[in-house]
Amino acid sequence: MSNISNNERESIHGLWSSRLTFILAVTGSAIGLGNIWKFPYVAGANGGGAFVLVYLICILVIGFPIMVSEILLGRKGRRNPITSMQLLGKEEAGSQSWKIVGFIGLFAGFLILSYYSVIAGWTLHYFTLSVTGGFGELDTNQVNLLFSELTSSILTQAIFHTFFMVITVIIIARGIKNGLEKAVKIMMPALLFIMVILLIYSITQGDFAKGVDFLLKPDFSKITAESILAAMGQAFFTLSLGMGCIVMYGAYLPKNESIVKTSLTIIFCDTLIALLAGLVIFPIVFDNNLAPTDGPGLIFLTLPLAFSDITGGMLFGSLFFILLGFAAITSAISLLEPSVAWMIETQNVQRSTSAIIIGSVIWLLGFLTILSFNDLSEFTFWKGTLFDNFDYLASNILLPISGLLFTIFASWFMTRSSSRSELSDVSPIVYAIWKFLARVVAPIGVIIIFLNAINIF
Ligand code: PHE
Repeated sequence: MSNISNNERESIHGLWSSRLTFILAVTGSAIGLGNIWKFPYVAGANGGGAFVLVYLICILVIGFPIMVSEILLGRKGRRNPITSMQLLGKEEAGSQSWKIVGFIGLFAGFLILSYYSVIAGWTLHYFTLSVTGGFGELDTNQVNLLFSELTSSILTQAIFHTFFMVITVIIIARGIKNGLEKAVKIMMPALLFIMVILLIYSITQGDFAKGVDFLLKPDFSKITAESILAAMGQAFFTLSLGMGCIVMYGAYLPKNESIVKTSLTIIFCDTLIALLAGLVIFPIVFDNNLAPTDGPGLIFLTLPLAFSDITGGMLFGSLFFILLGFAAITSAISLLEPSVAWMIETQNVQRSTSAIIIGSVIWLLGFLTILSFNDLSEFTFWKGTLFDNFDYLASNILLPISGLLFTIFASWFMTRSSSRSELSDVSPIVYAIWKFLARVVAPIGVIIIFLNAINIF
């Protein structure tokens, strides 16, 4: 590697073959259930337009600087997020304790993957329903029935959850770069294509005006401290921030690639898919007397109605759910990779052993989410069921906390020469903008939103 000077570390897992691979990998991580399953129902539960506005602001002024910070930390550290933070903490700020930030992120990833896999399992189940003609002639009652049949069955959910975790573990065990590039290159455009078809359906058959109104017209009376926190949590979740996977992927990024440009591309694609999903879902919601507040089942209640209605619905329905399953896999591997890399680097175990051990623990934890929808659905505390609490704790609290610490470290504690050398391709003004956002705007934003949510103001 001729362009890397001697004082720079090299990744022991190799580097991405090109900038495109990195973009695809991070986009693959970012785009997933967060955009298509979670964004619509969280937006629906929090009043629509005003939530979306706060979400977009969070993406730009908090998400963007933090994504740049995480990539640059990863590329400078060249290790898993914990070790990178430990090394950089020592070199740049004289304290190894910064590794705690990596731990918080990895813990969040654990929690997220445990329920993420269950929901990904739902999409796989819907794929099988669609190929076997299960979306024949559906009305609102029938879609409700299909969905409650799934959530009340521990066995069905367990089968698909297990299947999904096994695939994730196999991919991680083989090393994520093999195959990832090809997979994402085909799947992402295909997913976009089906979303556009669905959009046409929503425009022509759904209550499009009402859907757009709901999603894009801010009604500020619906804004609460909790919904602002939810919007910020969603921004972190959807961009895969605060968890360490962007740090991890940054560790495989060759030195000469532009971090700022890459981040902007990824953020643009991710936001586009989320907004598209919203524009597809809400017109169908309003046209079929469903409620935007229907929760985690929202896409499973709306989309089968569309597929049962359109010509070629069986084909499009099957393609949609399988592609969503793939999009979920490219996110799931990014949730698992940091802990696996950490175990390989520090505990001296093989990649496959590490993937199996960590994957099994997460798989077991997933059963708590499965049970949240049936036997343990009455067992509620704090924010609701176990699933609700996992999601709230991880997305709204842990991701913002470690994202905040990553950005504070990169902008306040790293020496200027270190951060500038990672961002050497941009003009001094762009560098200054990043620094201002990373040092001041993002931290203050996160802190105010936190304090607001616990009723300090
Ligand atoms: N961003 C992914 C999605 O939107 C989920 C994810 C969260 C992945 C955190 C990695 C880290 O589906």
